[in-house]
Amino acid sequence: MKRIVILTGAGVSAESGLGTFRDKDGLWTKYDLNEVATPEGFARNPVFVHDFYNARRANCRGAEPNAAHRALARLSAAVPGQVTLVTQNVDDLHERAGAVGVIHMHGMLDGALCASCDHRWRAQAVMSPVDACPACGMLAARPDIVWFGEMPYRMDEIYEALLMADLFVAIGTSGNVYPAAGFAAEARANGAETLELNLEPTEGRRAFDAGRYGPASSVVPAWVDEVLSRV
Ligand code: OAD
Repeated sequence: MKRIVILTGAGVSAESGLGTFRDKDGLWTKYDLNEVATPEGFARNPVFVHDFYNARRANCRGAEPNAAHRALARLSAAVPGQVTLVTQNVDDLHERAGAVGVIHMHGMLDGALCASCDHRWRAQAVMSPVDACPACGMLAARPDIVWFGEMPYRMDEIYEALLMADLFVAIGTSGNVYPAAGFAAEARANGAETLELNLEPTEGRRAFDAGRYGPASSVVPAWVDEVLSRV
């Protein structure tokens, strides 16, 4: 059995009703990412930024995993230790579908982070700039989301997995945001096959040996069934 690294993006949660960023009607067509997804934006207007993530947290709590999340959880469980599931998503739909050990490289809506002492705790449904850090007491609570200009989480583990991978699969991500956008080329340089699953071919299509196109809820379970039929 091959070692597989899977990278998911907003497209995997689109059919659960969570919006993507760059599609028509995507979040970044309605919000300026400099205002809601940078440390500078947060410093300028913490209430606005908390409101943005409070709304997304509420949407996430009201959403359900779809067939793509469930198929990926089924794959990981069927071949323990051979699948590394990395997501750029800050929702918990992979976990709620049963996946364990998911690497959330861009953080999670369920997390709170102290901008003063880096302490982390579980976020309340509604966060505000006057929430005190439970460790140091500073009024410096922010969502535990990796913003532009910040280093994504667990990069050493991810690059280690990319080094060992036989197959890299990108699912529902436009490939616009680095370092994740560079994973396919990295995996390929390390000798892995590369596969893109998306609604449509992305601009980075050439970094993939193959692509399958259609809604994640049908393309992903079909691919998982194929992989498991060869185990
Ligand atoms: P994007 O919004 O950039 O891309 C979403 C991708 O999903 C596109 O390539 C769509 O074609 C595809 N897609 C949409 N619906 C789909 C469906 N039903 N089935 C399959 N694919 C579908 O989202 P990401 O690539 O995840 O970072 O964005 C990467 C990062 O940019 C995010 O993690 C976020 C954002 O700024 C931060 O906030 C730090």
